[in-house]
Amino acid sequence: MTTRRDFFKKGILAGAGLALMNNTFSSAAEPGNMNAGTDFTLPPLPYAYDALEPFIDKQTMEVHHTKHHQAYIDKLNKALTDGKISGVTIEDICKNISRHPLAIRNNGGGHYNHSMFWKGMKPNPGSVLSPSTTNEPTGKISDAIKSTFDSFENFKSKFTQKALTTFGSGWAWLVINKAGKLEIGSTANQDNPLMDILEFKGNPVIGLDVWEHAYYLKYQNKRADYINAWWNVVNWEEANKRLENK
Ligand SMILES: [Fe+2]
Repeated sequence: MTTRRDFFKKGILAGAGLALMNNTFSSAAEPGNMNAGTDFTLPPLPYAYDALEPFIDKQTMEVHHTKHHQAYIDKLNKALTDGKISGVTIEDICKNISRHPLAIRNNGGGHYNHSMFWKGMKPNPGSVLSPSTTNEPTGKISDAIKSTFDSFENFKSKFTQKALTTFGSGWAWLVINKAGKLEIGSTANQDNPLMDILEFKGNPVIGLDVWEHAYYLKYQNKRADYINAWWNVVNWEEANKRLENK
């Protein structure tokens, strides 16, 4: 079984410092998070390619993971080699992105974002059998969402709107911001809220890929349908872990 540490061994999240009541951003990388040279590798999915059906289809997952994510990793490794950069975590690359060229920003962001995206989803057979079942959060993330956005429905509506109105290719996020509060935002291309050059910053709790490559095969141009389907497979246990920094 793939452990969280294995999955993130190249620095993804690196503990991310997501304690809700702790206003600091953790910069500590877990031991083993350093890339020994330029060998970031594709993390395996924590489920089968068809496990998110019918919400996210098998072909999209397979192409997205083995082609798109792999391409970001290959280009990231090349850019690091070209820049003679080694011994860094992907999280530290993102946090210090102002020091790096665009190729590392685009492809390092792509690697970080997709790695957390895969773990942020999980199969939901209950919703398949009973489509009216809502995949609502539990635990601390549920409490935090309700105290920040009044209700889960209100949060869902605001997040959906942000994802829908993200122009072109990008990501919608729920983060813990510097003030220790939940905040919704979006980033363009493969940027993410860890990046020091962005105004919207924080530690990611949920990230939603709204590039067309994430949904076009099944949903064509209907981003709204993809977003509605994605809510069924949000992994709230993972969101709680990120929130509690476990
Ligand atoms: Fe993607």
